Amino acid sequence: MKIGVFDSGKGGTSVLAEIKKILPNEEYKYIGDSKNCPYGEKSDEELNQIVSNITDDLEDWGAKVIVIACNTATTRCIEYLREKYPEIKFVGTEPAIKLAAETGAKKILVMATPGTVQSERVAKLIHENVKPDQEIELLACPGLADAIEHDEKIDETLEQLLDGVDEEHDVVVLGCTHYSLIKDKIQKFFPKAKLIDGNRGVAKRVKSLAEQ
Ligand code: DGL
Repeated sequence: MKIGVFDSGKGGTSVLAEIKKILPNEEYKYIGDSKNCPYGEKSDEELNQIVSNITDDLEDWGAKVIVIACNTATTRCIEYLREKYPEIKFVGTEPAIKLAAETGAKKILVMATPGTVQSERVAKLIHENVKPDQEIELLACPGLADAIEHDEKIDETLEQLLDGVDEEHDVVVLGCTHYSLIKDKIQKFFPKAKLIDGNRGVAKRVKSLAEQ
């Protein structure tokens, strides 16, 4: 089966790697849309246009399933894409808030792009999954995906963003696929926390579609 995967750059390679672990024999095309990075600081109109252009390319290539390996594009555009391209199966990548809540953690931090943090989808995920005895903090990280994409000033950007953030979180959700690429650096700021992303869940969903 032909599976298209895209992100605003290299972040989605962390998702693709997880998919290939359990589905090694499918045909993949990855689009890393670096020229439009960061998605997390764009308007809905701009993003809808960008993701439509990518979907057109992947559809021309023959993709039957498209993985949006980007939390920002998923939380902001997946409904629009599903409506516009009903013949394609879209699998999204969302901040792993459900998974974090299910661990029973008392203090959860979600790191994500400004666009993801402000999305209605994230508000809904919190409303539906986080229990009253759980504390959840959303941290918008402007500039971080861009720094990772261009491999520039990653440490300085992280230090600035995490300055003053309590290190005593039980779980830190990596709500942007770029952040999974620097998991070790983020772990140093939260030595006792469990860091999680939604990549494995995405891979399982793609596998079940491939099997259908
Ligand atoms: N990798 C992306 C995400 O998961 C997008 C980062 C960006 O371009 O702002 O949100």
